Amino acid sequence: MTTTSSAPGKVYLFGEHAVVYGEPAVPCAIERRALVTVAGRDDDRVRVSADDLSLDGFTVEYGSSSDGKPDVDVPTPLIEAAMGYVEEALAQARDAADRPDAGFDVEIESEIPLGAGLGSSAAVAVAGIDAATRELGVELDPRDVADRAYQVEHEVQDGQASRADTFCSAMGGAVRVEGDDCETMAAPDLPFVVGYDGASHDTGELVAGVRALRDEFGFASDTVAAIGDLVREGEQALADGDLETLGRLMNFNHGLLSALGVSSRSLDNLVWAARDGGALGAKLTGAGGGGCIVALDEGDGVETALSLSPECEESFSAELATEGVREE
Ligand code: PMV
Repeated sequence: MTTTSSAPGKVYLFGEHAVVYGEPAVPCAIERRALVTVAGRDDDRVRVSADDLSLDGFTVEYGSSSDGKPDVDVPTPLIEAAMGYVEEALAQARDAADRPDAGFDVEIESEIPLGAGLGSSAAVAVAGIDAATRELGVELDPRDVADRAYQVEHEVQDGQASRADTFCSAMGGAVRVEGDDCETMAAPDLPFVVGYDGASHDTGELVAGVRALRDEFGFASDTVAAIGDLVREGEQALADGDLETLGRLMNFNHGLLSALGVSSRSLDNLVWAARDGGALGAKLTGAGGGGCIVALDEGDGVETALSLSPECEESFSAELATEGVREE
C-alpha cells in the first residue's frame, strides 16, 4: 500500500521575524504544493528519494530507525537539511501511531524551492506526517498535524521556529499566528506574484542575526514592535478587502525587515522591479537573506517586470491555497 498527502507552501503577507518575539503574523498558503508518498516496509529501514525544484534529485537509504542516521553520504548541505525534516516527520508519525520500529519508503515531489521563504520544509513536514500516519492506519486532525509539524521545525531549527509556517501549511488559506495562538482568517482573493532570486537561506542563522541586533541595540525591539502594529493594521485591511492598504503595509513591512538586516541586494532589486511593474506593494517573504519576494498585483505587469529583472530566476502568480494538507 502507498499513501500520498500534499500540503501547500506559503508567503508571509506580514510579520515574519517579529512573530518569533510574540508579535502576530499573517502567512497565506499558496497553490504550490509538496507531495509526499509513503509506503510501509517489512523492516525498520527508511529510504527517501526526492525530486525538488531546487535539488537535482537524490535517494538516501538509512539503516535501522533506532540508529536513525543515513548510511550513505548525503550529497549537499541543502539535502542534509531536507533530510532532517523528513527524519523528524517520520519520528512524529511513529509516535502518533505507537509504532516505534516502523520503516518507510518515502518519495518527495515538491514544487516549492527549498530555503527560499515559501515554507518548503513546513510543507514537507506537514505532508510527511499526514502520509506516514495514514499509512500506519491513523488519521490526524489537521490541527494535530500542524502541532506535530511545529515540533519537527522546533527540533530541526534548534528551537528557533514559530508556529506560522506549519499551521498555515496544515490549514490552508490566510492564518493569524501570535505565540501559541493560531487561527484561520477570512481573506479576499489575493493576487500574489512571487519572484525568486535562485538563492537559499539558513532560517536559523537569520533569526539569530535579528536576536543579536536586538541584544546590541535596544531600539531594534521597537522595530519588531512596529511590525506587530503594522500587522494589526493589516488585519483590518484584510477583513475590509482593501488591497491598496495591504500593498502600502507590505512596502512598510519590507522597510522594517531591511532595517533588521534581513534583506539583500537581490531581494531589494526584485522588490523594486515589482513596484516598477505596478505592484500595489512588495516585500521579501520568510527569513530573507535571499530567496523570494511577494508582491500584490491586480494586472500582469509585475510578473513581466520580474521576469525581465536579471536577478530573477523565476516569477509566477500564486493563488491563495484555500485547502491545507490533504490526502491525494
Ligand atoms: O524562510 P522561512 O520560510 O523559513 O520563514 C521563516 C520565518 C521566521 O519568522 C523568520 C522564522 C519563524 O519560524 O517564524
